[in-house]
Amino acid sequence: MGSTEVLARTAPIYERVKRVIPPFEWPVFADDVDAILRLKRERNAVILAHNYQTPEIFHGVADIVGDSLALARMAMNVDADVIVLAGVHFMAETAKLLNPSKTVLIPDREAGCSLADSITPADVRLLRQRYPGVPIITYVNTSAAVKAESDICCTSGNARAVVESLGVPRVIMIPDEYLARNIAAETDVEIISWAGHCEVHELFTAAEVRQLRADHPGVVVLAHPECPPDVLAEADFAGSTAAMSDYVGTRKPPRVVLLTECSMSDNVAVQHPELDFIRPCNLCPHMKRITLGNIRDALEQNRHEVQVDPKLADRARRAVERMLEVR
Ligand code: 13P
Ligand code: SF4
Repeated sequence: MGSTEVLARTAPIYERVKRVIPPFEWPVFADDVDAILRLKRERNAVILAHNYQTPEIFHGVADIVGDSLALARMAMNVDADVIVLAGVHFMAETAKLLNPSKTVLIPDREAGCSLADSITPADVRLLRQRYPGVPIITYVNTSAAVKAESDICCTSGNARAVVESLGVPRVIMIPDEYLARNIAAETDVEIISWAGHCEVHELFTAAEVRQLRADHPGVVVLAHPECPPDVLAEADFAGSTAAMSDYVGTRKPPRVVLLTECSMSDNVAVQHPELDFIRPCNLCPHMKRITLGNIRDALEQNRHEVQVDPKLADRARRAVERMLEVR
């Protein structure tokens, strides 16, 4: 567990995360960090990590980090033979759609998402029958099979821009009901929603925000748009994980709370040691399936390779690419 040589080689990485990982824990991570850095060189691999990955992954081994939109955009320009997606399955599928010739690995196949599980391709076909001619905008938190039935995708970072880019009075936005309602509150376009929810963000309540303000005077409240609308109504700002991170970086609120998954605050706090982060967080059990150990296994054993059914890949890719064309 963390020989002297390994600890010396990984010391600069520990320096970055020391505010959120205690010194006695680092030797537990150091061997895997060291091995992953070597394996990345040997296999010409890159690690894309979502903002919800734990700090030892996010700051320790990732090459590209960001929100779902940034990961999709950056997956297009990866110059490597192997992409390891440290995130959930739909993110790995999106990376594969945009990089069909590369090997895309997900360290745990079971890393799913309650939103992706809330809707099937057959549901989307029924919506199309029920609302003929109404474009279907699909959140990227869905399977490739659902994307293939859709006109265009969106993320929390571009949802309003995607809705308004279509130039129509009415759209269907699936499957996140709260994202759809939150965007509907910002635009004149009528939005038909689906009853899917993020199991992490649906837990935050407006009463919790009021209590936070009472307990922590002056706290600035940032919320993810997957939270219920009454939570956003109580917040100071709503945006994707990248938008929240940018808000903290540019506005530097002395005391701040991020109403989103737990690791997000750890990762942002590493970059802003001067700020006070209040941390009522909810864990995403799917994101937490990814560990240094299974990232190492993924690179050593080339597993688990993500494939997209060729019968639907072109249609799903088109929906993602249409999204990426929206600025
Ligand atoms: P973003 O990082 O795109 O805001 O998405 C949040 C999320 O819940 C991803 O699963
Ligand atoms: Fe899905 Fe929510 Fe987890 Fe993101 S945080 S992967 S939306 S369950």
